[in-house]
Amino acid sequence: DAAVAGDANRPAGPAPRTDAPPAGALRFPPGFGWGAATSAYQIEGAAKEDGRGESIWDTFSRTPGRTRNGDTGDVAADHYHRYAEDLDLMRDLGLHSYRFSISWPRVQADGTGAPNQRGLDFYRRLVDGLHERGIAPMATLFHWDLPQALQDAGGWESRDVAHRFADYAEIVFRALGDRVPVWLTVNEPKTVVQNGYLVGHHAPGRQDPDAAYLVAHHLHLAHGLAVAAHRATGAGRIGPALNLHPCYPADDSPEAARAARLHDGYENRLYLDPILTGRYPQDVLDDLGPDSRLVRGIRDGDLATISAPVDLLAVQYYTPYYLDGDGTSIPRWPTSQAPWQQIHPDGMYDILTRVTRDYGPIPLTVTENGLPTPDTLGADGTVDDARRVAFLRDHFAAAHRAVAAGVPLESYHVWSLLDNFEWDAGYDERWGLVYVDYQTQQRVLKRSAHWYRQVIAANGL
Ligand code: NOJ
Repeated sequence: DAAVAGDANRPAGPAPRTDAPPAGALRFPPGFGWGAATSAYQIEGAAKEDGRGESIWDTFSRTPGRTRNGDTGDVAADHYHRYAEDLDLMRDLGLHSYRFSISWPRVQADGTGAPNQRGLDFYRRLVDGLHERGIAPMATLFHWDLPQALQDAGGWESRDVAHRFADYAEIVFRALGDRVPVWLTVNEPKTVVQNGYLVGHHAPGRQDPDAAYLVAHHLHLAHGLAVAAHRATGAGRIGPALNLHPCYPADDSPEAARAARLHDGYENRLYLDPILTGRYPQDVLDDLGPDSRLVRGIRDGDLATISAPVDLLAVQYYTPYYLDGDGTSIPRWPTSQAPWQQIHPDGMYDILTRVTRDYGPIPLTVTENGLPTPDTLGADGTVDDARRVAFLRDHFAAAHRAVAAGVPLESYHVWSLLDNFEWDAGYDERWGLVYVDYQTQQRVLKRSAHWYRQVIAANGL
């Protein structure tokens, strides 16, 4: 495993200074924002409290066979009750920015109608607590927990749900707009499309390609309508949060080059182009065909709504893809505990520089990047996640190279602050800088958290 080379013999310890290369060896620009990210369903728990309604992830995770070990987010990391302690952890790490998501069914139990004040109050307390600690809030409006009642009404296949999302967004902007400097609309629309509607291992668990791409259009529309609501009612900046995957040919053949190009259309341009250029990529539309529900679902004016100017683009990078001439994905690099993740830091450089090259100098933030590791709490009370340290170091260095090449990257958020509910993989995959003992809900800073604190303090490696 190349990513761990050099770490194997390092000593464990609560404050492993040995992980720190000479301070300043690789400095980020002054004011660069260092952060960490989470999402509501993955950490909050308190699934039945303070008027919260049910989401499609409650339904999905409680359905036998859908998640590993039958895990659900019912309790998760109990952040709803322990948020103050978690805010103190963020301050101890020295975070500048905290990216979290707002649970739609806490704000509107059924996805429509009057807001639930107790739900909004929780996020108000969270946001106030961040400001008290000098940490900038970054709020995602939709991180996959669609109110179940809206799923029953057709979910993202229904165009109306995009309008319901705009109503919900407006409620949130009115309640928190003065205190949140950066808003993100839809988290990883591609994952909803692919995992929720193509492969089916995420909620709502469908396997229907034609529905999937119509869902993509409605997610884009939801994004655009939320941007319009923000311009009318909100303050601060707003943008989409897209997971992007560099797609490389697996060999030198023209067939592989063609396959990689089309795959790039489905992985990246299908999400970037409508928002940033106001057009769907023609090669993807041609591939889907004129009878596809996506093509038939586009109405006059939709692309103008979808491409309303945004203030920044949030990029989430985890893995590259290599395509052979048949369009089959051929893994090239060692994978992590998550079988879909190949560890390839240069992919971070490639995707950041490509976005700037192809879409112009829009401000970028990395809103997710991270590694799952099978962490355990040692007898001495420490968690030695040396692989995460190596992974982050290599990806930070790649981001630094992108900045040096002129990419307007302003901040970087590690996924995740805490170990949490990793969707269909349940609690088996630990992605946190902070270890969570799910029996006691005790938090323990992992070696990576101690190391990250030093990176933040030095603004570099
Ligand atoms: C992307 C998602 O936004 C997040 O919810 C998930 O936990 C991470 N990737 C890791 O898979």
